[in-house]
Amino acid sequence: METCVLKGCFVDAPTFGSLRVREGSFLVLVDGVIQGLWDRLPEEYAACPMKDYGEALVLPSFADLHLHAPQYPMLGMGMDLPLLDWLGTYTFPAEARFADPDYAREVYRKLARELIACGTTRVCRFSSLHTDATLILMEELEKAGVTGYVGKVNMDRNGGVNLQETTEESIRETERWLERCGGFAHLRPILTPRFTPSCTNELMAWLGRTAAERNLPIQSHLSENDREVQWVRELHPDCGQYWETYAKYGLWNDRTLMAHCVWSDQRERAAMKEAGVTVVHCPDSNVNVCSGVAPVRTMVEEGLKVALGTDIAGGDHLSMFDAVTSAIRASKIRQLTDPAHPAFLTVAEAWYLGTSAGQAFFGAGPGFAVGEKLHALVLEDSDLPQPHPLTARERLERCLYRRQEEAIRAVWSEGRLVLDRGEK
Ligand code: GUN
Ligand code: FE
Repeated sequence: METCVLKGCFVDAPTFGSLRVREGSFLVLVDGVIQGLWDRLPEEYAACPMKDYGEALVLPSFADLHLHAPQYPMLGMGMDLPLLDWLGTYTFPAEARFADPDYAREVYRKLARELIACGTTRVCRFSSLHTDATLILMEELEKAGVTGYVGKVNMDRNGGVNLQETTEESIRETERWLERCGGFAHLRPILTPRFTPSCTNELMAWLGRTAAERNLPIQSHLSENDREVQWVRELHPDCGQYWETYAKYGLWNDRTLMAHCVWSDQRERAAMKEAGVTVVHCPDSNVNVCSGVAPVRTMVEEGLKVALGTDIAGGDHLSMFDAVTSAIRASKIRQLTDPAHPAFLTVAEAWYLGTSAGQAFFGAGPGFAVGEKLHALVLEDSDLPQPHPLTARERLERCLYRRQEEAIRAVWSEGRLVLDRGEK
């Protein structure tokens, strides 16, 4: 049994809107599992090795619940195009390159390291349709210390040049991929129909059956963009709403993640709430590819599960610092332009969505919950000028808005120290 004590200024978000601040406190880990957070170190731990982070902020690391790994090389490109044109012009050709395992290895190694350097330790990510590149992605994430879910993408219609499978290939390759996923300690498979226009009914039905038989979670896109919604209506005239195209094939339950939901109306939102589907709000992507501004606070107030994602490369930054502050901006724009939108998100609320709400999808309690493996980042902001002596809450706000990746001194993931930059 290995015991370790961390000392620092701990801030977490135990509930939506609340912050717990513990300055100069001690967090005790036994084999990476949080035992508690104390103002005075209990006697029994006095002789244990200590990581003394001084006044530095110790925060829960981020959970990014929607991002596309093969789009990492095209970050910040094609931003003058709306979603469907952007997919055809930039995204599909960029993803087609991942047929090459050497290219995949090089890109995914960089991506995995950058994720940790940004303080993101839990992810739900789309790979491409390529099985081998997907396994390489899982290997590189695992090596870097990233945990969570990865999905081989399924797409057997409306793809690009060299980016489409037959239905048989898609099924066969998904089975091959699932057989090889057992060897990872911290990464698990998630079924990933790209979105309804990418998958035939036959493939959707097979995915739904497989999710049930193998007890697998599901991720996809929903009601992101008006042209996309219209297209789905044409493809499925039998379905009144977009969500029904997933529900009718068994892809709609409390382990389903749906990215965006910008155009989901009250009925579609009620269907998410009833099934326990998690909405992944990706505010940067929604604006970049001209989709819209999702009513994020309305969804929270209606009782939906809402978490955040960068959706790179629809999103233009890998950093969840951005996703949090962009969610606040999106909620303000919505409030300013939509009389029905209740209010904007506060810093504490948006940060809860980027940390604790995301953790919930992995079955973890909020913030630094006792009994959970530690996921944390240590942020040293002492060299920034201060207008007045800042409270911990103000320091957190400033770090979020100033995207303080470079101030991250250490990162813990699943109870392990995965990045240690030492003293400044
Ligand atoms: N819908 C289907 N594929 C994609 C994708 O790669 N990115 C985004 N933002 N939306 C999608
Ligand atoms: Fe996406």
